[in-house]
Amino acid sequence: MKPFEIAKDIYWVGAADWNIRDFHGYSTYQGSTYNAFLIVDEQTVLIDTVKKEFSDELISNISSLIDPKRIDLVISNHTEMDHSGSLARVMHRIGEDKPLYCSQMGQRNLSRHFPQKWNYRAVKDGEVLKLGKRSIKFFETRMLHWPDSMFSYVQEDALLFSSDAFGQHYAGPERFDDQIGDAIMPHAKKYFANILMLYSPLILKLVNRLTDAGIEIKTICPDHGIMWREDPTRIIDAYVQWSTQAPTRKAVVIYDTMWHSTEIMANAIVDGLCREGVYAKPMHLRNFHRSDVITDVLDAGALIVGSPTLNNGIFPTVGDFMTYMKGLKPKNKVAAAFGSYGWSGEAVKLITESLESMKFQIIEPGVRVQYVPDESGLDACLDLAARIASALPPAE
Ligand SMILES: Cc1cc2nc3c(=O)[nH]c(=O)nc-3n(C[C@H](O)[C@H](O)[C@H](O)COP(=O)(O)O)c2cc1C
Repeated sequence: MKPFEIAKDIYWVGAADWNIRDFHGYSTYQGSTYNAFLIVDEQTVLIDTVKKEFSDELISNISSLIDPKRIDLVISNHTEMDHSGSLARVMHRIGEDKPLYCSQMGQRNLSRHFPQKWNYRAVKDGEVLKLGKRSIKFFETRMLHWPDSMFSYVQEDALLFSSDAFGQHYAGPERFDDQIGDAIMPHAKKYFANILMLYSPLILKLVNRLTDAGIEIKTICPDHGIMWREDPTRIIDAYVQWSTQAPTRKAVVIYDTMWHSTEIMANAIVDGLCREGVYAKPMHLRNFHRSDVITDVLDAGALIVGSPTLNNGIFPTVGDFMTYMKGLKPKNKVAAAFGSYGWSGEAVKLITESLESMKFQIIEPGVRVQYVPDESGLDACLDLAARIASALPPAE
């Protein structure tokens, strides 16, 4: 992807990863981009780099605008290797003695990735760096989503380089929100659900902090996906909504099955929920990727998790999903368990305990059916659906 201008003398110089489909276990059906930025001023700055494998593209993009040696300093907003992976090559090319700005935790974490004794300039929250016509204010955004994360804000352009926040794994012909419209929101939501959901309380605090400080934001440039220039408040408002996770009348029925009995139960629960006016969706864990399931969990009011009993335990994909979900800490949900079994039937109890440990409001008892569900088993599923529906906010 060729460089493009975002604002006068501020350029995107990153790389598109069109073919990546698995980003550290997150499904990226539409690839991703690694956004790096060049600000040409009295002091010329490179903000972030790209994954190591894409360093040729980064260097070539920079070279098409200026001689890379003209870069006076580099800012690293985030240590993760999709943004720092080309640092060694860049520093070698521009001069190892050039200043490398990052947060204090950034210096610590970069030093654990790179042995080079670079000229680190660890900045404090609120510190301002004068470039010439422009100045950059740094905001420490610890744990959004790594300890080193920070934002760099170009005060004169009201332009925020937001690191991974407000990003999306999306590579396409569009560069800006006004070019893609609503179609970008599912990608932004998926990114939030998989990367940021667990930091929801910090996001709400950060948005308040920026609002209280009266920071005007005309453009947001995240480290992945498109830039928000037409309506940056749209993504900020969405982050507030996703962080709040207000209960909704939506349910996700998440399950796996060996011989379809648990699936028959899942479908009965979905039917029962729909009958009660709940927007309900079955998600078979070998047909939906965990990163898509968690995206649906984000704005659901209820989770109903089903597994057959396998070797006195739960089915492996269900275990995988429960582990993933626990780390992401969804909140404000009601939850229940169901499943078919043959002789010992531990799965429902194990799922219930796991859901309890995630602090969901448990709807008990769950439903356990021996082998293939008969009419009474299906009635029990419908009854569970009705109990879940009554625990959700009423239909508007
Ligand atoms: C390999 C295997 C191991 C199983 N282990 C157990 C078990 O430990 N305890 C139990 O109650 N049922 C066990 N079952 C029986 C299943 O739980 C039962 O067939 C159930 O109806 C399967 O539900 P499904 O059709 O949703 O896969 C096992 C079945 C298989 C195929």
